[in-house]
Amino acid sequence: MSIDSLNIPQIEAPFGEATVREPMAFSAVPSQRDAPGEFAEQRPYRPIAEPFIPGNPYRRPLDRTRLASIDWTRAVTEGRFVSDESLMAHRFLMNVYESDALFLPEAGMTAATAADYESFYSRRSRLLGEIARPLVEDHALGFLADEVRTTGQWDVSSVEAHLTAAIDEANQAVSLVVARLQTAPEPRRAAELLIAQMALDGLTEATAMSQNIGGAFGPEQSELFKIFIDEFGYGVFGAKHSTLFVEMCRSVGMATDSHHYWFFYLPSSIAVNNYFYLVTRNRTGFFRYVGAMAYLEATFATWFRQLSSALRGIYGEAVDTRYCDEHAHIDQHHGRMAVHDLVLPLVAKHGTVAAREVIRGVEEIRLLGALGDADLLAQLDWEPQLDQNCEPMGPIQHLAAGDPFDTRVADATTVCAVRSGHLELHWRPTGEPLRIEAGYGVRIPAGRLYGLRCESEATYTLSGTR
Ligand SMILES: [Fe+2]
Ligand SMILES: [Fe+2]
Repeated sequence: MSIDSLNIPQIEAPFGEATVREPMAFSAVPSQRDAPGEFAEQRPYRPIAEPFIPGNPYRRPLDRTRLASIDWTRAVTEGRFVSDESLMAHRFLMNVYESDALFLPEAGMTAATAADYESFYSRRSRLLGEIARPLVEDHALGFLADEVRTTGQWDVSSVEAHLTAAIDEANQAVSLVVARLQTAPEPRRAAELLIAQMALDGLTEATAMSQNIGGAFGPEQSELFKIFIDEFGYGVFGAKHSTLFVEMCRSVGMATDSHHYWFFYLPSSIAVNNYFYLVTRNRTGFFRYVGAMAYLEATFATWFRQLSSALRGIYGEAVDTRYCDEHAHIDQHHGRMAVHDLVLPLVAKHGTVAAREVIRGVEEIRLLGALGDADLLAQLDWEPQLDQNCEPMGPIQHLAAGDPFDTRVADATTVCAVRSGHLELHWRPTGEPLRIEAGYGVRIPAGRLYGLRCESEATYTLSGTR
């Protein structure tokens, strides 16, 4: 291959000396604030018309206009954690983090996916993402530093006591989310909303963990590796946890390709996933990572046991619960290994710095978990209802077949009133959307994720939001 076929521009040197070749990726570096907008213009992030994204792990639409309207210097507060701004910031961050991991299309590369593949991993996209990442991380998850403060002297025994108490508390609780699946009016649709959120981690399980497999940090590195190889099924593809997740999805008729349900991730679900990238991509987050990871590994077994039995109650024999059952078993061991072979030896060796950060990680993931449960419960509880008495409010908007589809979070209670034609309201990843005919409207509670689509042409008003 000649170097010219790489499309690298040649720049003539002023005095006719040897030609200087400048890699395009590093020309005209944008500012931190401009980088997210230019990132969103790259091919994989452009709008699409469909509510689902089949067979293409690189397509992850980002609304450039909404991204550009965010003031990145004003961090999202805990009170605004479930907001459209938070959704956009976390979608952006996820794309940056995941462009550091390898995805290949399950059905093999085609001309269309090859172009997206090139663009997703291009040096320009990666550079733009990395320029903006610290700013967006602080914006999206910076509130954790305000909400969780660890002070005082911590040592091995106080860390062990705190961690054990936190784990015991979680393991004695009944999961409200799992319980709600069984009492939901449509339990399958409810379970599938949860499974779609779980896909954020389930299809790429232990990718964040893999980021601390390298380097040199003593015997604890090998202890981490023991957990990691279990997550990867000891090199047997069929036993890899993400393979078990795929089989569970397939058994309930859900898509198994990465980000098929891109538009239906709640901001809090992406945030929990992003948190693990935040504390592994930034190496100084390592002790927070092991604290948060140990807490989750030690509480997963109980949670997955509840989920496994709920799914069997909902789907009967048809559901493949091996993903849940494997975690109900192995995470009893992973919890013990992470606490006793990883966290406590690290605290014993690295002292107060490690101890404080471990506790911080535990408390941060507990907070994010509680916020995530509240967000998911609210989405599960929302059953949009057609209402003939909706007052049209706000400017008339148009939507036609083929217009870009997107979902957003309602920042205030919003009324969507259809004036002509009809709209589809999408608010969950599976099941039929709600059809809103002219003369009808739907109330969208603040904080709820929704998307509008039209198969022909419609006019409508939307109050309470842009
Ligand atoms: Fe796992
Ligand atoms: Fe595990």
